[in-house]
Amino acid sequence: MATPIIELKSVGKSFRAADGTARAALEGVDFTLHEGEIVALLGQSGSGKSTLLRIMAGLIPADGGDVHYRGMPLYGPARSIAMVFQSFALFPWLTVQKNVELGLEAQGVAPEERARRAQAAIELIGLSGFEGALPRELSGGMRQRVGIARALVLEPEVLLMDEAFSALDVLTGEKLREDILALWESGQLPTKAMLVVSHNIEEAVMMADRVLIFASGPGRIRAELPVALARPRAVEGSDVRALIDDVYGQMTAGAARPGRVAEKEAKLQLGDRLPEADVARMEGVLEVLMEEPFKGRADLPKLAEDTELTDNELLHISSALALLGLAQLDRGDMAITPLGEHYVNANNSERQALFGRQVLEHVPLIAYIRHGLEQDPSGDLPRDLFLKLLRFTLNETDAAQALRTAIEWGRYGDVFEYNFNNGVIHLPDEEKLMEE
Ligand SMILES: Nc1ncnc2c1ncn2[C@@H]1O[C@H](COP(=O)(O)OP(=O)(O)O)[C@@H](O)[C@H]1O
Ligand SMILES: [Mg+2]
Repeated sequence: MATPIIELKSVGKSFRAADGTARAALEGVDFTLHEGEIVALLGQSGSGKSTLLRIMAGLIPADGGDVHYRGMPLYGPARSIAMVFQSFALFPWLTVQKNVELGLEAQGVAPEERARRAQAAIELIGLSGFEGALPRELSGGMRQRVGIARALVLEPEVLLMDEAFSALDVLTGEKLREDILALWESGQLPTKAMLVVSHNIEEAVMMADRVLIFASGPGRIRAELPVALARPRAVEGSDVRALIDDVYGQMTAGAARPGRVAEKEAKLQLGDRLPEADVARMEGVLEVLMEEPFKGRADLPKLAEDTELTDNELLHISSALALLGLAQLDRGDMAITPLGEHYVNANNSERQALFGRQVLEHVPLIAYIRHGLEQDPSGDLPRDLFLKLLRFTLNETDAAQALRTAIEWGRYGDVFEYNFNNGVIHLPDEEKLMEE
């Protein structure tokens, strides 16, 4: 049995919402990171992945459950656990060398040793020759390398990477990922375990020995998939593709899919998040889904390729389509429903009417807004009113996102109109519509 390094037992964490009520960001998380493994953590944004990493690094305390590091309770930041963030967080006025040395300085390491160790870390990550450069003189990929060197110089036993590759373009991200894996395999790293948060399924499958899938509201581990493939892995290899399919299946399971387990998650509540999916893209995906070679049913990874959407974008769009009954998700596949087919074949005004009916039926927030407008003598209400309502259950970003989606969908379905100048939502002006 591999030796545990960090152990989490029924870890929970709540934050206070704007109205003072506590909202669980994590609940009942059981997880052990062992020596010798790379674990990937996938999940929708806002599902609590960063919070979990910060708890594991000792940066914030859990408020339920236990966190043990090497068998001892973890109180406060641990020296041998380093984190790499998505935003490079470099000091712009410090050279690469000085940026890398910072953590050592904080640990009281003598200047000569600092310089030597920083030099070694810079070389390891492929930045030799850039010691004297300032961050702004570097490309994004190189800046992220500095961020990684800054973590590696501390010779951490555990490396926690929070979407470390997400801000980079695809090729740069892949190259950096490959370099890190090569270092890991070569045994040159002092690091004994890595936890990699990603929203890129392929990245997770390419890197990890196991993939954890996080569910949100509150964040918890929904599924775990072992990846028993030797590294380096061929991205086009059939076993890698099959695993990517599996992960897609797990991530879409329960997201608006009929079935007993999914029941609770399938039915939206008024204060729930809404997917970040605009109508044009939803229609685009539906149309591609109907065409050759898919003809109504597609493997999600293939559909992502064909539509040039990222995994994350497609997950949002597919859950939106499922929510509105235009498609169904089934083990990593998306299948168009009879209603979806009807939709694709309809003309614009029929599409709008159908869309309006579906959003009223399936999106409580839109029905609530419509109801409010009908009750109000003037027929118009400020957007902020609904934002305040959403802030009871969602954080600021998610609330704004949910309302943005609701307004866009409601407008498109002609459920209401929205004045962008003054932020007022109002009933459609029927007469004006008839004149047109
Ligand atoms: N310091 C904080 N104060 C209040 N809410 C927070 C704080 N940190 C995270 N949250 C909330 O906890 C939830 C999970 O956030 P996070 O861990 O950042 O998710 P992820 O990394 O998966 O996107 C979100 O709803 C977020 O708004
Ligand atoms: Mg995060």
